[in-house]
Formats: sequence, C-alpha cells, structure tokens
Amino acid sequence: MNILVTGGAGYIGTHTIVALISNGHSVVVIDNLINSSRESLRRVEEITDTTIPFYEADLRDYDTLGGIFNEHPIDAVIHFAGLKAVGESTENPARYYRFNVGSTLNLLKIMNEYNVKKLVFSSSATVYGSAPVPYVESHPAGRDITSPYGKTKYMIEEILSDVAMSDSSIEFTSLRYFNPIGAHESGRIGENPTGTPNNLMPYITQVATKQRESLRIWGDDYDTVDGTGVRDYIHVSDLASGHLAALTHSKPGYHVYNLGSGKGTSVLELLRAFEVSTGQKIPYEIAPRRPGDLPEFYADVHLANSELNWQTTKTVEDACRDSWRWQSENPNGYEQ
Ligand code: NAD
Ligand code: WQD
Repeated sequence: MNILVTGGAGYIGTHTIVALISNGHSVVVIDNLINSSRESLRRVEEITDTTIPFYEADLRDYDTLGGIFNEHPIDAVIHFAGLKAVGESTENPARYYRFNVGSTLNLLKIMNEYNVKKLVFSSSATVYGSAPVPYVESHPAGRDITSPYGKTKYMIEEILSDVAMSDSSIEFTSLRYFNPIGAHESGRIGENPTGTPNNLMPYITQVATKQRESLRIWGDDYDTVDGTGVRDYIHVSDLASGHLAALTHSKPGYHVYNLGSGKGTSVLELLRAFEVSTGQKIPYEIAPRRPGDLPEFYADVHLANSELNWQTTKTVEDACRDSWRWQSENPNGYEQ
C-alpha cells in the first residue's frame, strides 16, 4: 500500500514508518516539524535504505494537502499529526482544537475528495477518563476527560465514527495508545522531547545522562502496589506493529482498539527495571501528587489480540534498554 503518514517525523510516526517500509509498504510523509526535526526522517531513511517523499507542511493548509493527494496515489492514511502536551492544552485550549480537530477535518475533506477510504488514527487511553481497570473498549469513553488535549482525541473519535456511518465503504480505525516508551533497537531514532520532559521515561533517561539531577516521583500515597502511579507501558516498536496490524485487518466501519501491554507497572517498578536492565542508578525524591494524574490504569488488549492478530513482543526491560541506548548515544536528541 502507499500510505500517507501525517506527523511522520515524530516519535511514534518514525517507528511506524520503519515497520511499514520493512513490510513492503511505501510512505509519503507530511509534517510541519513543530515538534520534530528533519533529521529523524533522514535516520529512518538510513535504517530502511529508502528515500521517503516528505512535505514540510501543516495539515491545516488544505491546498498543500491537495497537492500531495494529486501527486501521490494514496491508499490509506495513518494520522499521527497533532499536539500532545496535556498541560499546554489547558493553557491554550483553542490552539489544541485548531491543531488537532481542525487538521483532522481538513484531512477527512481531502480524503473524501480523492476517494481514500482507509484511515488509522492515533487516539489515546486518555479518552476513557477515570474508568475501572483494565480499560476495555466497550466502556463508554468521553465522560470525565480532564484535559482539552484528551477532549480533542475524543471529539475526533466521534467525528470518525459519524463519517464512517455515512459511507459503508469507509474503513476507519482508532488506536487508543497507553504509555509508549522505548526506541528502535538501532539507537538511531527515539523520543525527543523539547525542553523538560513531562513523561516519565525521557525524564529517567535524562537523569541517567546527568542532564537532570534527580527524578521527582509524583506521589507515593496512591492505593496501588507500592503507592506510586501505575501505567501500561508499551514498547514503541510494538505500538508500530499495531498500526501495521490495523491496516492489514482493516474492515468497513469504525473500529476502536486498545494498544497496550495489558500489564500495569508502577513508577518504582519501572525505575527498578531501568536500573537492573541498564546498570544506571537513578536518584529520586518523592514529591506531591501531580494534579490530574490517575492512580492506576492499564489496557485490556483482548480485542486487538483477536481481531488484529496483534501481540506485544517486548518487555518493559527491553524498552528500558532501548530508551537508554537512544538517550546515551544521542544525549541532545537529533541535534548534531
Ligand atoms: P510527536 O509530537 O513526536 O509527533 C507528532 C508529529 O506531528 C510531530 O512531528 C509534529 O511536528 C507533527 N504535527 C503536529 N501538528 C501538525 C500539523 N498541524 N501539521 C503537520 N504536522 C503536525 O508525538 P508522538 O508521541 O509521536 O504522538 C503521535 C500521535 O499519537 C499524536 O497524535 C499523539 O497525540 C498520539 N499519542 C501519543 C502518546 C504518547 O505518549 N506519545 C500517547 C497517546 C497518543
Ligand atoms: C507516568 C507516571 C506520573 C513524570 C501522559 C498523558 C497521556 C498520554 C501519555 C498522550 C505517572 C509519573 C511522571 C515524572 C513521575 N499522552 N511521573 N515523575 O501521565 O500516564 O500520560 O502521556 O495521549 O494523555 O497524560 O504519562 O509519563 O507523564 O506519567 O512520577 O517526572 O509517571 O505521575 O504515574 P501519563 P507520564
């Protein structure tokens, strides 16, 4: 298939492109590089030994989208492009609605114009709000989402569902990611946050390289195995293969799948796994709970296992080793 990958220069996009090309697909990438760099795609080209058609452009620019669809026969779209900082979305909600919802509306319009019926969308476990664990797709989403970021994901899901209902030949899939960590085993591509990382794994790896002094663990008084927050960490390469599976098993209608490991891991457990698998000691201190954090969530992954024939193959220890290889070999990310 010839696949348009929006946001393909980003963390999950780059890893997914490697999986797509390794499995015989071709890709075209559009990314405005607002949260990524050209170098990430150059490295994907190096890993896959291919040249990737790339458009440095914004999805909100309809004319540019038209040019891309005109030039390339697109069979399917994987839609990663969007803003993803939860805190920032609370400070500037309108920007998040413009970037995330607005871009998706443009994309749907051009897909309709060029008769492209297959789409895989990057959704998030955040659409469940606070649901009973494990999170299962049949649980009603959208009820108590706390951030505008999360609401954009839920709104996009609703739009996709409505559009799919209007045309029986449409095949739309939302993948609800849990907590992606890890990096490609080559150490050439990985997560490259700008500024101080919000997420746990990049913070840990930057403490390990001594770019940051110590990790602050946000709360140790939750009702969890050891009092720290529990999440479902999934290796980004497993997440990437989930996209391949979603395309391979794409079917008419609108479908939603959780992509997680199915296991909960606490902050302290992840920290220990990192120390054991990399030999790096991570100093930490206990800090107050972070506002908006849930105590515990992890995925029920039976639906993706059975309908997409997809399983994770990597452990949290594999992800720790791969994140560390990426960070230690590229302490400044993609900056040379
Ligand atoms: P990322 O920021 O690394 O990648 C997103 C890419 O989209 C970036 O390269 C950015 O430059 C590009 N982009 C943003 N707005 C654009 C626009 N208007 N036009 C063109 N390009 C644009 O993020 P990621 O971690 O790779 O996440 C990919 C997707 O998965 C996002 O939609 C994110 O919300 C979703 N997601 C991520 C996580 C996570 O923890 N990383 C979890 C759940 C869902
Ligand atoms: C994981 C655990 C923290 C940093 C966020 C978004 C979510 C999704 C993924 C896009 C929690 C603890 C963290 C630190 C810590 N993104 N922690 N010290 O909050 O589960 O999810 O990223 O869709 O929408 O909200 O991920 O990595 O920030 O936190 O103790 O410095 O680590 O409290 O328990 P989170 P995270």
